[in-house]
Amino acid sequence: MSNAPLSTFLKDGTSQEHERLDKRIMTLAPFADRERYALFVRTQTRLQRVASPLYQSEQLEQWLPGLAGRDRLTAALADCEDLGVPPEAVEEDQRAAQGVGAGDDYAALGWLYTVEGSNLGAAFLLKHAKSELGLSETFGARHLAGHGDGRGLHWRRFKEGLDALMLSHDERQRALQGALDAFAFARQGVEALLATAEVDAQ
Ligand code: HEM
Repeated sequence: MSNAPLSTFLKDGTSQEHERLDKRIMTLAPFADRERYALFVRTQTRLQRVASPLYQSEQLEQWLPGLAGRDRLTAALADCEDLGVPPEAVEEDQRAAQGVGAGDDYAALGWLYTVEGSNLGAAFLLKHAKSELGLSETFGARHLAGHGDGRGLHWRRFKEGLDALMLSHDERQRALQGALDAFAFARQGVEALLATAEVDAQ
């Protein structure tokens, strides 16, 4: 598997974590009401806060042209505002993300893989946010919106960028570790926010 394109290597190396996280989020009823959904959005802002400096990195932009335009932190923060997340909670999320570095540029590639990939599953989450909570790409669910070029094409372009990089075995392993660390950090946010808040009896 070590000769597989980088995007395939990362997908295979993280698919278990993805499945666990996806199931965990869905069992925590993120669409039960807007309050619970806001907790989910807060988990997303934590992840986007760690990733945002990577989207602004010159080295990474050189490797993955157009990277800066993919940053979804502003959209996630605007969703928090739409949903009435109080400033103390926004600050708490900022603190949770502070000091969580992605590591070197190779690990950063893995982080970006995980965060960009999350925009694919977002198609499914957006449907729920619309039908169950009355939200949209312009209110409350901005960070789940697809790209104007189409979600699939946008993702394929990102993967092509990753797959064009010539990495050594060691650099690929560092990228995989970065991708796994991003999943672990996402999981941590879900446990800290969604898992500790009670679900209202329905
Ligand atoms: C309930 C929450 C989630 C659901 C239901 C979900 C669902 C999905 C689905 C259906 C896909 C495949 C889409 C396709 O191939 O067209 C996907 C891809 C992906 N998701 Fe999620 N996802 C969720 C949360 C997340 C989170 C929080 C992350 C990151 C922290 C994430 C990372 C990824 C990645 C990296 C891929 C791309 C896999 C590949 O390389 O093809 N997902 N997700």
